Amino acid sequence: MAYNVNEFDSQQVVAQDRKHVWHHLTQHKPFEEKDPMVIVKGLGMRVWDAKGNEYLDAVSGAVWTVNVGYGRTEIADAVRDQLVTLNYFAQTAGNVPAAQFAEKLISKMPGMSRVYYSNSGSEANEKAFKIVRQIAAKKYGGKKHKILFRERDYHGTTITALSATGQFERKNQYGPFTPGFVEVPHCCEYRSQWGDVDDYGLRAANEIERVILAEGADTVGALCLEPITAGGGVIEPPQGYWDRVQEICKKYDILLHIDEVVCGLGRTGKWFGYQHYGVKPDMVTMAKGVASGYAAISCTVTTEEVFNAFKEDDDARMGYFRDISTFGGCTAGPAAALVNMQIIENENLLENVTQQGEYLLGRLNGLMAKYDVIGDVRGKGLFVGFELVKDRETKEPMDESLAIAIGAHCMQNGVIIGRTNRSFKEFNNTICLSPALIATKVELDIIVNALDEALAELAPNA
Ligand SMILES: Cc1ncc(COP(=O)(O)O)c(C=O)c1O
Repeated sequence: MAYNVNEFDSQQVVAQDRKHVWHHLTQHKPFEEKDPMVIVKGLGMRVWDAKGNEYLDAVSGAVWTVNVGYGRTEIADAVRDQLVTLNYFAQTAGNVPAAQFAEKLISKMPGMSRVYYSNSGSEANEKAFKIVRQIAAKKYGGKKHKILFRERDYHGTTITALSATGQFERKNQYGPFTPGFVEVPHCCEYRSQWGDVDDYGLRAANEIERVILAEGADTVGALCLEPITAGGGVIEPPQGYWDRVQEICKKYDILLHIDEVVCGLGRTGKWFGYQHYGVKPDMVTMAKGVASGYAAISCTVTTEEVFNAFKEDDDARMGYFRDISTFGGCTAGPAAALVNMQIIENENLLENVTQQGEYLLGRLNGLMAKYDVIGDVRGKGLFVGFELVKDRETKEPMDESLAIAIGAHCMQNGVIIGRTNRSFKEFNNTICLSPALIATKVELDIIVNALDEALAELAPNA
């Protein structure tokens, strides 16, 4: 019998799920006693589960993805039309939406030039790592192959993307890791490694230079950074950081790879997070919001200079980028991405993000004034978070059980919020919000009020 999205036996579906589906990032032991959540419908910023409960989604599909909101029939229509015309052909050849989307995307990224398609953020990052390794092989006899990443940043789930990830708990038990990835210190000023200093941004950036010199600048090929650290606790790099980072990359001939998997496509109020800071990257990777989850698509975008490093006469048999992603040839991705971008433009969503983001930050600062347990509120656009602490003076982080309890309380009240999730030993203490770019004050008030109620019950001032 054909599956009909509107007709299913919800009890049966929950039973099927409970019996056979292995959920992501989830301990399943509790499902011996209770049902897992099964989401069956989404519209705007709201989703419904199989039991008929309605939720306001403050995290765009739980992981910063559904940027333009649920139920966009114009994206679905474009994908359907494309699929019946041509669903797939390997990206060894071009196709219509891939060409059209590439041009539109590059028009928003001055200085960038080429788009390489694949289908997840991890994979887009793997492509960038392979580009660095091959450039090292072609130009530097393999020596300049190391890739630096930052403590607290996340770059994906595959073993090599995890090798480039600065989150202890995410990596724990999955080693050994790919060699040649080296960590640099985080740049979270609230958690300053040097106490209270005026030039924190400069110091944190200078630490990168220290690592480069310790490793040997002639062994370091690239630096991979999130523009604003996402799952690591919503960390906006401090003043002075990016200028110095770029200076260092130039000085030592190191490629700058910006991971925009979360910040890309409007989340922070500009098309890309790095565009707030005057950064000129060599490579930019993106996924999640590129098609808002209407299709799987990721992109590794490079400058023409990086691209040209692979252009050679045919007799250089190993000279070109010998990489393929089967599903990078699915046309649904760029077809959805094209309409996704048009929606962001037509509905002025970048301006909305800036305005509503300020409102949301203001309201969260209001919560901080009310609850001592909030130690720091931070973020940009509709990408914000706050840290829970035992004591504002010592900044001792709260145990993750409080963040979990706040999430459960909000869920009970029909609001889905996010939190740092088994990322660090002691810093799973950040509540994260990333509502769809269409959010209005009405929805933001519902979200903040749910947090207010949860904090009043679970963490009232002494
Ligand atoms: C900054 C960042 N990079 C990369 C990834 C990996 O993306 P994916 O899960 O699509 O492989 C994520 C996922 O959360 C991310 O937050």
